[in-house]
Amino acid sequence: MTILRALACQTLALLLTLGLAYLQPIFHNPIVFLFTQSSFAVGNSFLLRQPTWWIPIHLLFLPSVFICFTLALPAWIYLLTVIVLTLVFWGTIRGDVPLFLSSSEVAEVVIALLKKENAQTFVDLGAGVGSVAIPVAEKLPTVQVEASERAPLPWLISAFRGRNLSNFTASRHNFFTTDFSKYDVIFAFLSPLAMPEVSEKIKREMRVGTLFISSSFPAPNWHPERILYINDRRETLLYLYRVQKNETSQTV
Ligand SMILES: C[S@@+](CC[C@H](N)C(=O)[O-])C[C@H]1O[C@@H](n2cnc3c(N)ncnc32)[C@H](O)[C@@H]1O
Repeated sequence: MTILRALACQTLALLLTLGLAYLQPIFHNPIVFLFTQSSFAVGNSFLLRQPTWWIPIHLLFLPSVFICFTLALPAWIYLLTVIVLTLVFWGTIRGDVPLFLSSSEVAEVVIALLKKENAQTFVDLGAGVGSVAIPVAEKLPTVQVEASERAPLPWLISAFRGRNLSNFTASRHNFFTTDFSKYDVIFAFLSPLAMPEVSEKIKREMRVGTLFISSSFPAPNWHPERILYINDRRETLLYLYRVQKNETSQTV
């Protein structure tokens, strides 16, 4: 569905720009043409309510195609690019969360929180290349750290980075199939779209008193125990949720 919407944005933008080029010779200029098509594509993306991370993709899509054609690159480069992008952004095409990496400042704060919680078990839901899970496993050897990731290439990178850490496991699966009750602290940096389903599963399965840390995106209808401001490039906010008895009674 997501990919069909993206294709619809691009195709409609192309048709509109071709229509303008038919009416006005100024649009025969490649730069004007590409700029107009990209702008229409972004506008369509807004109209079709696509997540904001589609904006750079729509902006760059046709200009990149144009540049590749003018450079006359060999065909295998296109194939390689598609393979690598598929392995990295595995589920993104179906509307999943894309790969963005947490900063080292976020990892430091998560380490401090795990120490304070005296946690024994920790998982990063959608661990990417292990930007949080690896530093945690390195700094806290007594904590069993799991990096749960569905996309093959990020998973492989995190498994390789953690190959010498006996307290680290990189599991390649959909975290919705995991039982959350085994973790003392769960960290997630996902997307607003994923938060309702994730937080419902957390409330259902995590033990009373355990901690859920959500980076950047709040859990809907759940009042955080604390919100931490991280002084990093993204000015990340960490939302801390304490799982309580009869969790539904504390929803707002
Ligand atoms: C925004 S990145 C965060 C990466 C890492 N946690 C960090 O903080 O640097 C989100 C990751 O979640 C993964 N992901 C999304 N949904 C998933 C699912 N259901 N199961 C496993 N991984 C998932 C994506 O492949 C992506 O790598």
